[in-house]
Amino acid sequence: MEKIAVTLSQNLKAKPEDESKLGFGRVFTDHMFLMNYEEGKGWFNPRVVPYGDFALDPACVVFHYGQAIFEGTKCYRRADGGLQLFRPEENFARMSRSAERMGMPHLDEALALEGLKALIDVDQDWVPHNDGASLYIRPTMISTDVHLGVHASKTYLFFIIMSPSGAYYKEGLKPVGIYVEDEYVRAVRGGTGFTKCAGNYAASIYASEIAEKKGYAQVLWLDGVEQKYVEEVGSMNMMFAYGSKIVTPALNGSILPGITRKSILTLAQQLGFEVEEKKLAMADIFEDIKSGKCTEAFGTGTAAVISPVGELAWGDEKLTINGGEIGPVAQKLYDTLTGIQYGRVADENGWIVKL
Ligand code: COI
Repeated sequence: MEKIAVTLSQNLKAKPEDESKLGFGRVFTDHMFLMNYEEGKGWFNPRVVPYGDFALDPACVVFHYGQAIFEGTKCYRRADGGLQLFRPEENFARMSRSAERMGMPHLDEALALEGLKALIDVDQDWVPHNDGASLYIRPTMISTDVHLGVHASKTYLFFIIMSPSGAYYKEGLKPVGIYVEDEYVRAVRGGTGFTKCAGNYAASIYASEIAEKKGYAQVLWLDGVEQKYVEEVGSMNMMFAYGSKIVTPALNGSILPGITRKSILTLAQQLGFEVEEKKLAMADIFEDIKSGKCTEAFGTGTAAVISPVGELAWGDEKLTINGGEIGPVAQKLYDTLTGIQYGRVADENGWIVKL
């Protein structure tokens, strides 16, 4: 494996003083990790360098045709001060799957993980100490060929930046309001819905803005063909509790295969919940919430962790779920997942990478 070169910043930034006010993704650490790719040569020049601007030609493919993919993972500080990652190899494996769909090269996953470790090593003091805060990690790959033809690039840049962050939603663990979007769609069968490509998120922004103006934290996307079935929220996968049974949309190619989703499904079963992945009609969920059969709704995601949904709006109807409070299923799963991530609960599944 190529050695990772480290150039330290001579101009260290002040760290945030109040970790309870971090918000999400606003402050960045002192360094970043970069490596380049060239067709025929593979990934090369892995390096940790001071965080800073890139100089890129305005004709780079990424600016015109959006060959860009990213990941999200976190570094946690345990009570004993030690640092740990949660299933980082899953993120790099998913990035390679995203890359393939986008005509981009697979990542050198082992080198990317070494790069991440080297980066955290130099910026370790940036990992927050507050419970609920962590160091959010954003690996990204962009195409860098200078060419206006619509073709896969032959050169790429992979980078990792890191941001000490708190809760993704301003509500924190308080339930959020979600708006069911039935005009616009996020993804279609055969498209890029299962990838973490920038375009999926770009396509969601307009509808999210409309929902935000109406007072909702996010939109819940329905399927792109019949606009009947629950897909995901864009920043999280959706789950619904029916007492001690948890149901979630099955992965169908247009939903992101969330790493938190997958982990929660495993933990839920280990905790004795029944779990079912299936096609979920929004109309059925709505009826089940009204009749009280569906007792909780919550989203799962790296940034969002577990985010209870207290209100669901669809057309002219608005439903309150579990009295607008977090329910026992979401709370149990949140406590277990974050317990493992922060080192308070034993990691029986071998998900933690201690640094
Ligand atoms: C994450 O949860 O890490 C994501 O990438 C979702 C993003 C919209 C914040």
